[in-house]
Amino acid sequence: MAGTVMDNELSNIYYQKNEELYIEGEWHREIKGLGLNFKNKTVLDLAAGTGHWEEVFLSLGAGKVIWQDLSEYFYEKAQLRLQGNDNIEFFIGDMLSVPLENESVDFVMCRDALFHSPDEKKTVAEIFRVLKEGGYFYLTARNWRRIIREPLNWKSPLKLISPHIYRFTGKKSIPTAFVLETYTLSHMNECGFKVDMVNRGDSLFSILASK
Ligand SMILES: C[S@@+](CC[C@H](N)C(=O)[O-])C[C@H]1O[C@@H](n2cnc3c(N)ncnc32)[C@H](O)[C@@H]1O
Repeated sequence: MAGTVMDNELSNIYYQKNEELYIEGEWHREIKGLGLNFKNKTVLDLAAGTGHWEEVFLSLGAGKVIWQDLSEYFYEKAQLRLQGNDNIEFFIGDMLSVPLENESVDFVMCRDALFHSPDEKKTVAEIFRVLKEGGYFYLTARNWRRIIREPLNWKSPLKLISPHIYRFTGKKSIPTAFVLETYTLSHMNECGFKVDMVNRGDSLFSILASK
């Protein structure tokens, strides 16, 4: 199975960081900031990770939240957090394929993870397939501004040119979390998404699109 699953040590660090930000209310603020109504909606969190976001969606009244990720470690963590909750479904699987019917979900989130997909274009098309008419897709990814602030090392120039190589050849030259937002936007446009918002943050860009 393709994909990039963090080792347990890194996963645990990531989990603790998410926990801190969850307690501080950061994740609630981010989702509430989208200004969408989640009451009784079906939400798919693709490459969902630690399970914190699922709690956010449920607290905002979502009727069903679907967690999908490749990581067995995060699966166990998320299951533990969400045990006893009937409104959640778990799928361990690659984001190239979502085991859901066409037009069956109201909202898809793919946060800080699309770059892991072996085929970004295919994943975006899969998201479009499962979204209902009028549904929303929310994506965040790290951007090049972040690289510029990182300490320089031999990989720095590679990280900067990697998204361009990826764009023109379809091959990832080095595993990189840094993508060109224009590249992602072009996939969305090709599928038929309407882009409602692009937010260029200091280290992340986020896109809200609708079907
Ligand atoms: C940086 S984490 C983001 C997790 C979560 N979305 C968040 O914002 O906290 C990236 C996630 O992508 C998952 N992942 C990596 N490759 C994947 C793939 N091909 N399909 C599904 N999930 C994948 C990892 O297991 C990890 O949970």
